[in-house]
Amino acid sequence: MKTLSLRSPAKLNLFLKVLHKRKDGYHSLETLFERIDLCDHIQLTGNQEGVIRIFCDHPDVPLDSRNLVYRAVKLVQEEFGLTDGIDIQITKRIPVAAGLGGGSSNAATTLWGVNRLWSLHMTRKKLLALARKIGSDVSFFIHNCSWAEGRGRGDQIKRFIIPARLWHIVVVPALKVYSQEIFAAWHNEELTKPGDDVKIFIRFLRKNNLSAMERLLRNDLERAIVRRHPQLLSLKQNIAHLVQKPVIFSGSGPALFALAPTRREAHGLKEALAKNGYQTFIVRTL
Ligand code: C5P
Repeated sequence: MKTLSLRSPAKLNLFLKVLHKRKDGYHSLETLFERIDLCDHIQLTGNQEGVIRIFCDHPDVPLDSRNLVYRAVKLVQEEFGLTDGIDIQITKRIPVAAGLGGGSSNAATTLWGVNRLWSLHMTRKKLLALARKIGSDVSFFIHNCSWAEGRGRGDQIKRFIIPARLWHIVVVPALKVYSQEIFAAWHNEELTKPGDDVKIFIRFLRKNNLSAMERLLRNDLERAIVRRHPQLLSLKQNIAHLVQKPVIFSGSGPALFALAPTRREAHGLKEALAKNGYQTFIVRTL
């Protein structure tokens, strides 16, 4: 049986503005996605039994239809009327339900993977149409790029070719947060100041102007996140104090991150955080 081994990267949202709540219940966003080098690994192997089997080394990852990779394969099977089965082995490194897009990335990687494994010749447009049915963040990962602006519910992607490669420290609190509960806790009055705009952020990114980017880091979901999980506010403040830098949540949280000018500086920050018992990763744009 043919086997494919694929990398499945995480993301950060360096800028996330919520524009309004839509009639369909989703929220209209303006966000900047960064692909980072914190990756899961996915191995796909066809099976004769015609079933979808998921194996994972992480106890919190569901192995049934709740897993987005299952939904990805099911959609493809339905679309092409296939009865071929598949074994999906996920080696999990991206923290689960942390705002780092791990599940969405796994689904996008699986879509790409079965497209190759089963020689389906789906175009990117077709893959994007399936991705949207799985989740809002899946589209970004289908695009396979380092930087992109997300609009709509986060699924309307505009890629950017920008040479900047940033270092970050990412702190992952021991808590799972689900985007649905955070968006449900978001209120209209939490709209950002009208002057701010993802385009300004991208301009500074092109110039690699770190201090300007640090000033513009924002996440409009923060109030909703801390309203649902009040302990995250003091945690965020404590981390910002330890690193002496602006810190924000990624996506719907609870992962928090800061920019670091160099790998060396990121290591220094990690040491300070590890001493205080925080689970910290050093990551870079991928
Ligand atoms: O698209 P996805 O399935 O990842 O979204 C999970 C939940 O998060 C949605 O059911 C919706 O409640 C909320 N959401 C939202 N607006 C977005 C993205 C997600 O309200 N732009």
